[in-house]
Amino acid sequence: MLSLKNRMMKKIKKIAILTGGGDCPGLNAVIRSVVRCAIHDHGWEVWGIEDGFAGLIEGRIHPLLWDNVAGILTHGGTILGTTNQTNPFLYAKKKGATVEYKDASKQAMKMFKSGQFDALVCVGGDGTLSYAKRFAKEGLPIVVIPKTIDNDVPSTERTVGFYTAVHNATEAIDKLYTTAASHHRAMVIEVMGRDAGWLAVASGLATGASIILIPEFPFDLKKICDRVVQRSSVGRRYTIIVIAEGAHLADGRKVFQRKAKDRTQPFRLGGIGQWLSLEIEKKTGIESRSVMLGHILRSGSPIYQDRILATMFGCEAVHRLATGERNMMVAWGKGELTSHPLKNIPQGIRQVPKNHPWIDACRSMGALFAEKDL
Ligand code: F6P
Repeated sequence: MLSLKNRMMKKIKKIAILTGGGDCPGLNAVIRSVVRCAIHDHGWEVWGIEDGFAGLIEGRIHPLLWDNVAGILTHGGTILGTTNQTNPFLYAKKKGATVEYKDASKQAMKMFKSGQFDALVCVGGDGTLSYAKRFAKEGLPIVVIPKTIDNDVPSTERTVGFYTAVHNATEAIDKLYTTAASHHRAMVIEVMGRDAGWLAVASGLATGASIILIPEFPFDLKKICDRVVQRSSVGRRYTIIVIAEGAHLADGRKVFQRKAKDRTQPFRLGGIGQWLSLEIEKKTGIESRSVMLGHILRSGSPIYQDRILATMFGCEAVHRLATGERNMMVAWGKGELTSHPLKNIPQGIRQVPKNHPWIDACRSMGALFAEKDL
């Protein structure tokens, strides 16, 4: 059998694909694109790994034929399944009532080798990317396709799933205007996005929100209350506030819903919107309600922008593998498809730059970010 290093140089015949981390609309479109492009343009075999790296470790891998991906382009979620609980380098194994952690990366490499795969396509966010980087260092030939509704993967301006999440948020916020206006309320709408404000800024811009609160700008409660009162005093008797789940006061404390012991990212954010709504009501006397959009944002059918991006990313990944590129992430930047070597991609997440044109446009529309003056 060829060593992994020789396999990297070898002509590709067989690849495997997995989806890791939280699901999002467009994952199935990526799977379909990789399978069909690999079969149609290169005559490769494609196998699907179930539930991200867990399926690779446990050998839950099956062939994906042309017909297996028929009809999935429009479906949300992932036919392969996914998990945001598996760190292959700190793999949790239940032993009775206790959980033991071990490095299962060697087991994953063994499975990859015994499957005679020539490359692994990982569709994931920053967590999957960090594992992919480590596997690539160990000699596993990899390509990453960036996905997440958060749009926060470094080195790419767009991730699969983001457009649909913005669309879902926009539809919901548009609806909430009518009830906010009828009752003369401040309506606080919390969107996901973890520690990046992309979803909040994009949906706030698309709906003309009066106040947009994001993790990039720690907020000042007084400024928010003053704006709500000021709007009310000039006859604007409702205020739409879009808040990212990771937004916080200057002390940096975030509101989270749960902390799981055995998770790579133990904190699950959520609840800052409700906190803010109660504070506004208490401090201004103006009635306020909060709505947490939560998982609805990443549910349902992908809109056309995600279908196109997913299909383009899938083809790009396959074509780059065919031309000998390995250990890279396909990306969208400056209006075109590109790729970056995994080793050059910074750790962590990509937040909204403070001078991003969307931020400037929100400000020009009169929206308030309520940044705390430092
Ligand atoms: O990263 C995607 C994301 O949807 C975040 O926006 C959110 O904080 C998190 O996943 C929620 O994860 P879970 O599905 O585990 O609650």
